[in-house]
Amino acid sequence: MSLSTIEQVKMHENGECWRDQAGQSIQAHGGGILLHDGVYYWYGEDRSGYPLDTDGQRKRRNVGVSCYSSTDLVNWTHVGVVLPAVDDPTHDLHIHRVIERPKVIYNPGTKQFVMWLHVDSPDYSYARAGVAVADSPAGPFRYLHSLRPNGFMSRDQTLFLDVDGQAYHIGASDENANTMISRLTDDYLNVSGDFCKAFPGRYMEAFAFVRHEGRYWMIASGCTGWKPNAARSAVAETFMGPWEELGNPCVGENADLTFGGQSTFIIPQGPATHEPVAMFDVWRPPALATSGYVWLPIRWKNGRMELHWQPNWPGDTKRP
Ligand code: GAL
Repeated sequence: MSLSTIEQVKMHENGECWRDQAGQSIQAHGGGILLHDGVYYWYGEDRSGYPLDTDGQRKRRNVGVSCYSSTDLVNWTHVGVVLPAVDDPTHDLHIHRVIERPKVIYNPGTKQFVMWLHVDSPDYSYARAGVAVADSPAGPFRYLHSLRPNGFMSRDQTLFLDVDGQAYHIGASDENANTMISRLTDDYLNVSGDFCKAFPGRYMEAFAFVRHEGRYWMIASGCTGWKPNAARSAVAETFMGPWEELGNPCVGENADLTFGGQSTFIIPQGPATHEPVAMFDVWRPPALATSGYVWLPIRWKNGRMELHWQPNWPGDTKRP
């Protein structure tokens, strides 16, 4: 790579697959962000094994979880594949199984970086959460185990770390009908046994959470596979609920399809305006490597979240 290929990027086009500083497409789909010692780490699905030009001979395959780092949430450097897929067909991380929606939090007590991810069989019947740990945010992550939290199915999972250091696992359980929130053990490596089921029968997935002005807020999607649908939102006084649904937070043209995206994470504080930022994936199967990103600042109006389309990230950081 020549130095001339490393260019400062001012903004990215929402909906497109963004590029890192080496000019390569960012492979961090279904991802999430960890801020550690002033550096943002973006972890997500590396879908470079699902390219546009697969000729049918070469089977599409998982690469694993990739990580990118940045100090401004705009210019990203590829740290590497921090949890690689493996060739062993009996392993959860096999190249032809499902590895989705990795999220990483830091445990100051154990000084470990803990990753939870959705691991599944190709038909999505395995429905488990996998756990991996690392001593550094840049990995490598060591795969520990997978589980069905409290004995229930888990798909489309995420993590939420509260201000008191308590961490939660959230997943779609019971064939996606209910949203299960499980309190994690103090080391964040397992579920503690304390859990609740929210949004009964609402078939939600792609959960993303943020704490804002003392309350807990959620953005999620309905269940239409890779196709976009109308986003959901909700608020709660305490993370284990009760949760109150608030409807689709998207406003304007294409709001009923979440601007073509599906939620994956909320960055608690964006640059400049310090508003939380909602991250979405624009899935483009079967060439999932070409899937795009949409990042939009969240605004609050009349006790609800609002998401307005903007063509670029970070776009105009001055708000009316
Ligand atoms: C979506 C889900 C994605 C992926 C996809 C497979 O609903 O959010 O993460 O699992 O289904 O069809």
